[in-house]
Amino acid sequence: MIYFDQCSTSYPKAPGVAEQVYEAIKTGCFNINRGGYAGALSTGETVFDTRERLSRLFGAPKSRNVILTGGITQSLNMILKGLLKPGDHVVTTQMEHNGVLRPLTQLKATGVEVDIAACTSEGELIMEDFLSKLRPDTKLVVTTHASNVCGAVLPIREIGAICRQRGILYVVDSAQTAGVLPIHMQNDYIDVLAFAGHKSLLATQGIGGFVITDEAARHMMPLLSGGTGSFSSSLEVPEHLPDRFEAGTLNLPGIVALRASLTYIEETGPQNIYAAAHGLFSRFISEAKGIPGLRLVGPSHLENRCPVAALDFTELDNGEVAYRLDETYGIMTRSGLHCAPLAHQALGTFPKGVVRCSFGHTNTQEEVDVLLSALREITRSA
Ligand SMILES: Cc1ncc(COP(=O)(O)O)c(C=O)c1O
Repeated sequence: MIYFDQCSTSYPKAPGVAEQVYEAIKTGCFNINRGGYAGALSTGETVFDTRERLSRLFGAPKSRNVILTGGITQSLNMILKGLLKPGDHVVTTQMEHNGVLRPLTQLKATGVEVDIAACTSEGELIMEDFLSKLRPDTKLVVTTHASNVCGAVLPIREIGAICRQRGILYVVDSAQTAGVLPIHMQNDYIDVLAFAGHKSLLATQGIGGFVITDEAARHMMPLLSGGTGSFSSSLEVPEHLPDRFEAGTLNLPGIVALRASLTYIEETGPQNIYAAAHGLFSRFISEAKGIPGLRLVGPSHLENRCPVAALDFTELDNGEVAYRLDETYGIMTRSGLHCAPLAHQALGTFPKGVVRCSFGHTNTQEEVDVLLSALREITRSA
């Protein structure tokens, strides 16, 4: 079994994740903020430490600005639907995942004005087009940090600086880059940063969150309300962070997993994780370039690009290639549109899609060689 679908979810999870989740559940993963007994306080410390680690990783204002949710799709819904109201204007890009595009489409139906900045056929944001979409009344800009289809990285600091100058809120989707590429909320002028636990952060599904500045939090309506274990005599949603956006019991086993993976990422160093995956990816691309009938989609450069290869087979059906990779060689990839239809439109691969091979730092050179020889055999058979 060879796994090249790291963009979908990371595998294997960081060392310590499975063991620590098992241990936590076995010894009682008691609810926080609801009990004064030692077990509850100890889970509380784990949650606090997780916020601290996320806060350090992302250059967050304070650890209380870290909100934990059930995942990045939930985060993006809470952020976009909590910040935008009818009449507001928002700008996004063609590289977005449906996690951004579908909430925006729902909001459009309620009267929010949505503009989409174009990207090139290599997946790069066209800056002039982005600038031309900004208006004096633009309230919010939301972009991904990197495309989950082709690995193109968007210039978040440049976008953030433009937004800050014009008083526009900047929201970043870091699903593919958190824990791998540098992100610093304050230096990159990010107002809200959404993250997924199970992808580049190497934890389990069902945990994610967002980091929000105090200022942005003041403008954001809580989409969910319910018990927080704080100010229980009041029927109103608490004002203070993180409780304002954390109604209901949190995914505590998921938080234990996230804490374990963050510890590993801190110890290993995001730059080393990136370099290991990128080394495999670069070698793959330089060999794959010579395979007849295989067209590489996405940026023509390798630097500052996430380790994601988008492959288009000129003589074969892309879905069939992915099927044969799995069936004959035990290689897991993903074909289709990857929940990012507008990205494929920009790349010229809509509606056909591509075969996506996404690399992780724990993949090996031998696995890359097996993938390359499988692709050579499959294309020869066309
Ligand atoms: C850039 C990006 N944003 C958002 C998501 C949504 O992630 P999830 O399904 O884990 O909520 C993905 C998933 O692939 C993604 O790649």
